[in-house]
Amino acid sequence: MDKQYKAHELAKGQRDISIAEFFERNRHLLGFDNKRKALLTTIKEAVDNSIDACEESEILPEIIVEIIDMGNDKYRVVVEDNGPGIVKEQIPKIFAKLLYGSKFHKLKMQRGQQGIGISAAVMYAQLTTGKPARITSKIHKDEPALYMEVKINTDTNNPEVLSSENKEWYKEQGTRIEIDLEATYFKGKQSVDEYLKQTAIINPHVTIIYQPPKGDQIMLVRVSEEKPVLPNEIKPHPYGVELGMLMKMLEKTQTKTVKQFLREDFSKVGNKTAEDILENAGILSKTKPKQINRDMAERLIKGIRETKIMMPPTDCIVPIGADLLEKGLKKEVNAEFYATVSRSPNVYRGNPFLVEASLAFGGMIEKEGSVELMRFANRVPLLYQQGGCGFTEGVVKTGWKSYGIQQSNGSMPQGPVVLVLHIASVWVPFTSEAKEAIAHYPEIIKEVKLAIQELGRDLGKYINKKKKVGAELKKRSYIETYIPHITEALTELIDKPEEKDSLSKNLSVLLEKQRGEVESLDFDPTKNTEYDEELKKISMEEEYDEE
Ligand SMILES: Nc1ncnc2c1ncn2[C@@H]1O[C@H](COP(=O)(O)OP(=O)(O)OP(=O)(O)O)[C@@H](O)[C@H]1O
Ligand SMILES: [Mg+2]
Repeated sequence: MDKQYKAHELAKGQRDISIAEFFERNRHLLGFDNKRKALLTTIKEAVDNSIDACEESEILPEIIVEIIDMGNDKYRVVVEDNGPGIVKEQIPKIFAKLLYGSKFHKLKMQRGQQGIGISAAVMYAQLTTGKPARITSKIHKDEPALYMEVKINTDTNNPEVLSSENKEWYKEQGTRIEIDLEATYFKGKQSVDEYLKQTAIINPHVTIIYQPPKGDQIMLVRVSEEKPVLPNEIKPHPYGVELGMLMKMLEKTQTKTVKQFLREDFSKVGNKTAEDILENAGILSKTKPKQINRDMAERLIKGIRETKIMMPPTDCIVPIGADLLEKGLKKEVNAEFYATVSRSPNVYRGNPFLVEASLAFGGMIEKEGSVELMRFANRVPLLYQQGGCGFTEGVVKTGWKSYGIQQSNGSMPQGPVVLVLHIASVWVPFTSEAKEAIAHYPEIIKEVKLAIQELGRDLGKYINKKKKVGAELKKRSYIETYIPHITEALTELIDKPEEKDSLSKNLSVLLEKQRGEVESLDFDPTKNTEYDEELKKISMEEEYDEE
């Protein structure tokens, strides 16, 4: 017999780890770290999928969400949409196989992107209650609805179908998912209620009918009948590819030469650019993609970096738009001042993105405490991991003091402000699979800062004006309190008590004339030139800040 070394012994313990097994143990990576979050994540994954599916099929989404308390920390979650439905063969894989989906390989602005969301929810449910997911799907009014019960085999990451039958369903088309899971229901920050409310703000075209486990049904009715413009899918931009991805693309490509590969499989590479890249890489244009080895691929990456390539097309990202965004915020937040900006697209690692921001100040907003930040990515609210989010870095690194808002160095500003930040991108760089926070790409943080600065300048002007008006009103009321005393003294001095009323009136008129009318606080930044000096000061401070 061959000699047995330690390595042989260790080899016995070395084997494949199935993805499902991995995530079963690392459920926190997918947003299932505790019972509260599990409920939110499950509903979020199902609702995001439903809205995506409706939009892709150009249907105005109407989503029903129901949470039923089953006792003992067990809840039944039902999410139903009026989308395109799902064909029979796909149902098991979509709901009971991790990393299976239609969005991962597309560079397109969508809510989902990884192909893990809903199957992770099904797996968590199965793990905590042992129950399968129950799916109903109808793809056309003339077709029967299909009902299926599916489970994940976590050893193999493959679906198991427990039952499959046709059934009657009142809907013309759509998908309904029903899962039982261990969870805790609560209200307030980071709750399902909060997520649905914010979803309605950022998706004015969506109607959500929500039945919480206790209390009345909540109707979040759409405020816009307009379907969002369908975003275009784009090819990857050369600046965004890394070695591994490039080698995979070279392996899969249908093209015959490396030049053709560059031109057809990437965006913004024409004849001339392809030639420049290949010259910089020292690779012949006729080389077959399959002949490109690792060393050559590295040279190709270097060639790409050294070549000036036009930025990717940006019509693939669809902003919400300043008007709709502000409308949504106004519906939810009662403030005295609002400002909104939708920035032009920019690029990080070859991926187009844009940042939109909306700010509400004063009014009914809580005066004490930090500025309230609402974060959104491709129209999905982000409720966790605020501290580790690139958005937050953009907020704390902006100098808010110059806008009249308190802030200690490097921390969240303090004051009655609600700030909405939205990133739209063909690929949102999340910090983890749970899709809770945006990674710290300098290009994104810079855009966030520029957006806040635009809003901040208007806010600064408003706060200044408010201060000025406030000071004037204080002065006036001070003088007004003395008018009766002065009138008294004057009537005594001239000994004409009958003149008392007219004296008092004259003094008031005099005050009005001398101090002029009190300015209105209605705010139009474009018509406010008198604070230009203040504005210059703010911009100068910002430039200094940038450095
Ligand atoms: N309600 C639905 N109607 C139609 N198709 C759906 C629905 N829900 C899911 N799908 C399809 O199932 C696929 C897998 O969904 P899943 O949530 O697991 O991944 P994803 O949405 O692609 O990405 P992510 O992991 O980021 O959520 C989707 O890509 C979509 O094609
Ligand atoms: Mg999804």
